[in-house]
Amino acid sequence: MSVKVTEVGVLDPRQAAGGRKDRQSRSGHRTVDVQRSSVAHLHFHSVYPDTDIVHEKMPTLGEMFPNFTCTTTIGTLSFHKWLGDSWGILFSHPADFTPVCTTELARLVNLAPEFEKRNVKIIALSCDSVKNHELWQKDVKSYAGDKSPGFPFPIIDDSDRNLAVLLGMLDPDEVDSHGIPLTARAVFVIDPKKKYRLSILYPATIGRNFNEILRTIDAMQLTDTHKVATPADWEVGKECMILPVVTNLQLNKMFPRGTTSVAVPSGLPYMRKTPHP
Ligand code: BEZ
Repeated sequence: MSVKVTEVGVLDPRQAAGGRKDRQSRSGHRTVDVQRSSVAHLHFHSVYPDTDIVHEKMPTLGEMFPNFTCTTTIGTLSFHKWLGDSWGILFSHPADFTPVCTTELARLVNLAPEFEKRNVKIIALSCDSVKNHELWQKDVKSYAGDKSPGFPFPIIDDSDRNLAVLLGMLDPDEVDSHGIPLTARAVFVIDPKKKYRLSILYPATIGRNFNEILRTIDAMQLTDTHKVATPADWEVGKECMILPVVTNLQLNKMFPRGTTSVAVPSGLPYMRKTPHP
């Protein structure tokens, strides 16, 4: 089945950057005052091959993640088909051969087995060509101290920034040498039903914490199968909170490892905990 993404509206980032004024960014890049609304209000129609659902904006959490066809370091991919029955994680990067991005990709190279253990396929995106990605991969592997053959995940060629616009990832505060906005550091997690489950959006100048990303995947996979939620700073093995929808009568059957309740001044019995199921 052919996969189509039909885009309408202002999709050219050069247009998105219209009305800009040159200035110097904190990172030393020449930057521009982009009319933020022109970036924020970029719309797209994506036609999902299986459902014919038409979206006019980036979906919200819980909706189906857009499908698209892209050129990558492992060839042309239809995103949903490539994901198959796995979870997926899409990381975007402002550009190849940049320091923070290189540390991030190197960390991902080292952590690739951890994502694989959790049945998560990794795909990165950078606003550069496959040819540059292939050269950059060598730097990344060297920085990661990884001497194994190949590269553990594909990198999307988004040199035309079409996907960056489609997925709402442009950072108007950081621009390239042509004054075009760079891609922010976005993370999108997609579950095996292709539902959009989590996003994190950092400015281009701040590298992400990959332990936190693995932690969120552990938490999502746990809370998908048990009626619990994970408290602040939760880590695998630590106590979980029992969902308010669970009645006290259900506790013993649902949580055979036991439950505790923490008294709070309101007197309301909602602070219920159970060991990691
Ligand atoms: C970096 O990866 O180092 C970077 C890229 C774009 C803007 C700022 C930093």
